[in-house]
Amino acid sequence: MSPTFNSEDVLVIFVLGGPGAGKGTQCARLVDEYNFCHLSAGDLLRAEQNREGSEAGQLIKSFIKEGKIVPSYVTLKLLENAMQESITQNNNKRFLIDGFPRQMDQAEAFDRDICQSRFILFLDCPESTMEQRLLKRAETSGRADDNVDSIRKRFNTFVTTSMPVVDYYKQQNKVVQVDCTAPVDDVYALVKAAVNKQIA
Ligand code: C5P
Ligand code: MG
Repeated sequence: MSPTFNSEDVLVIFVLGGPGAGKGTQCARLVDEYNFCHLSAGDLLRAEQNREGSEAGQLIKSFIKEGKIVPSYVTLKLLENAMQESITQNNNKRFLIDGFPRQMDQAEAFDRDICQSRFILFLDCPESTMEQRLLKRAETSGRADDNVDSIRKRFNTFVTTSMPVVDYYKQQNKVVQVDCTAPVDDVYALVKAAVNKQIA
């Protein structure tokens, strides 16, 4: 069976990085300037968790609180549906997919069944900086996982489960790494340059 979408027709950029690296912030800036459809796997999961009648709602809630990766079939289906919707409703076939793939089986399944990505934008950031950002965000985010206990678990999941995905794509020479320690505007200048170079 061939993938759902043809990578010559559909552009997929994966945006990866630890919790608090700035994935959502940088994607929002890119959307302002380029015609991308931004799909955040975490946002899609939170929306599904809150959707009335969702069969996966309770499952998602407990996994997010524990900083664990929600079973891949749930996230893959949400992403595929959202991509389809963007294509049919807005004719937008250019995707920034943020916070995905976070686990090796997600990477393999997406590449095989949904679409080959063009490249991976990896937002590299030290844990101390990410922790400061998350605790700051906790003041207003209302997120169930922006607390010291969940943050520690999320960092652990990132190192043990998500970094192998980055390494896997590094071996394929598909990773563009940007240091995200600096303030938002400075990081965005680097992100923009990286994206321009890749999609030129
Ligand atoms: O990316 P974000 O910080 O919004 O993700 C929040 C949580 O959503 C993760 O800690 C994880 O529990 C869940 N998630 C997931 N699989 C993904 C992306 C997010 O299980 N691919
Ligand atoms: Mg996010």
